[in-house]
Amino acid sequence: MMRRRPTLDVLVDSTDRRRALCVDVESGLGGPDKHIPPTWFYDEAGSRLFDEITRLPEYYPTRAERSILAEAAREIALETRADTLVEIGSGTSEKTRLLLDALAEVGSLERVVLFDISADVLTEAAAELGRRYEVDVHALVGDFRRHVNRIPRGGRQLWVFLGGTIGNLTPPERHDLLCEFESGIGREGHVLVGTDLRKDPARLLAAYDDAAGVTAAFNRNVLSVINHELNADFDPGAFEHCVVWDDAEGWIEMRLRARRAHTVTVGDLGVAVRFEPAEEILTEISAKFTAGQLAGELAGAGLCPRHAWVDEQGDFRLTLAQAAG
Ligand code: SAH
Ligand code: TRP
Repeated sequence: MMRRRPTLDVLVDSTDRRRALCVDVESGLGGPDKHIPPTWFYDEAGSRLFDEITRLPEYYPTRAERSILAEAAREIALETRADTLVEIGSGTSEKTRLLLDALAEVGSLERVVLFDISADVLTEAAAELGRRYEVDVHALVGDFRRHVNRIPRGGRQLWVFLGGTIGNLTPPERHDLLCEFESGIGREGHVLVGTDLRKDPARLLAAYDDAAGVTAAFNRNVLSVINHELNADFDPGAFEHCVVWDDAEGWIEMRLRARRAHTVTVGDLGVAVRFEPAEEILTEISAKFTAGQLAGELAGAGLCPRHAWVDEQGDFRLTLAQAAG
């Protein structure tokens, strides 16, 4: 059997990555409302910790989404007959194999494009798919806030955005990204989006504050990333992992709270950042959607939902959409 090696395109090399991290750290830690975008969690250690999170008993979203894919993959393959599957924020692409199996079975699949900011996990996932499927595999190291327009166009495309990652974006960021999806998939294409749904806040809080402390380690990892990449001297142990449910916004907030007053130096920026006792850094939001919410947001971006599936427990939803009109 002839196997082609996956191709790798780097849209964010180490220089761009550093520059973007500098901008985010400078603007995020320079003012009174400290925040760091969730993109920076995912270095090699962070991606490994996230993979561990997906197997935690408290973290239901991965299992729920996988169970929906197991049920719906064939239907999705028949409805889309996609020749190109594009996965944004692909991570390990483990659940995606259910879709690839179904597309291979209906005989439409020709190539796979994986797009992620984390080069290590991306390269591994692309190699694994290259071994499993006789298709072209392209890996793109990019930032989905900036480089979605660099994804190759043409053919019958199915763009997938799984894991509830859309909920890690603010509403205006979600709108912009969905507009990019709309222009990327073309007339024939489809987009498949996974969203976590609103539920008992106690279950939500447990999913982001597990007993084994893996999510806490993942949250603090962003400080290690800044230490390594920008020569900073954060003591991750000086911050407590905090999770808050914001009912009005409908999202979980992940924060790091300073245990005491202290000053952190970010060497490569030449700045000192002062923390007051209990002062917090917002590191992530994770929006939980109501029944009709995503359909409304899709419509706002010129997309029209064709089909939606929810798991048996009613925890998670997958929505398949096409260009409207
Ligand atoms: N889709 C996988 C992984 C979800 S975790 C799943 O469902 O399990 C979120 C993924 O998005 C990580 O792999 C992370 O590296 C990637 N990611 C986060 N921010 C990104 C950005 N700005 N651009 C591209 N990828 C990003
Ligand atoms: N997309 C995932 C989610 O919102 C990302 C995630 C899970 C996450 N657990 C986390 C991000 C903990 C930061 C910290 O569920």
